[in-house]
Amino acid sequence: MIGAVAPSTRGLGEQLAAIVPQRGTPTVVELGPGTGPVSAIIRQRMPSGGRQLAVEIDMNMVDYLRRRHPWLTVLPGDAAALDTLLADADVRRVDAVVSGLPWSIFPLPRQERMLGSICQVLNPGGAFTTFGYLHARRMSGARRFHELLERRFEEVVVTRAVWSNLPPALVYVCRRAVPHA
Ligand SMILES: C[S@@+](CC[C@H](N)C(=O)[O-])C[C@H]1O[C@@H](n2cnc3c(N)ncnc32)[C@H](O)[C@@H]1O
Repeated sequence: MIGAVAPSTRGLGEQLAAIVPQRGTPTVVELGPGTGPVSAIIRQRMPSGGRQLAVEIDMNMVDYLRRRHPWLTVLPGDAAALDTLLADADVRRVDAVVSGLPWSIFPLPRQERMLGSICQVLNPGGAFTTFGYLHARRMSGARRFHELLERRFEEVVVTRAVWSNLPPALVYVCRRAVPHA
């Protein structure tokens, strides 16, 4: 197929950003953008008129992102308070949430709070992507996180391994949030 790229040949950032709608005027939020490599990929996919935001907890990163990517609306704060941070920025709902957060270091109650906040702001047709490392997928923390995703979303698709990432990673593509799971 001309113009299509098989999922397994795309990099991690491209796989995470694949849920960004390419038509209309979507609102997209990224959690934990770090220095912004995935933000740049999201930007390439965004149709003109779309709104791109990012929530980052580390103020050094926030300052860096604002200098380096002035087109990005950076909301300083904790992704666990996503709904409040977005409301303060006059955003009620978003079409896609792309996460670069290190989920495995968060204890379960924090993971639950963060996912709850994500589900609260996603439009019914919206989607959420995040990633985990291939070597850790059978570890209890990764399995627990996967179970949590399955509880919070009606559909959770795990992509094939992204071998080009070091370490190789898997992307979770989640749709149809379950309210109050
Ligand atoms: C793995 S790094 C980001 C990776 C990024 N895609 C990159 O390649 O640079 C994770 C980021 O999440 C941020 N972060 C961690 N916990 C967070 C939280 N609770 N809310 C928002 N950002 C958080 C960190 O400060 C860090 O910038």
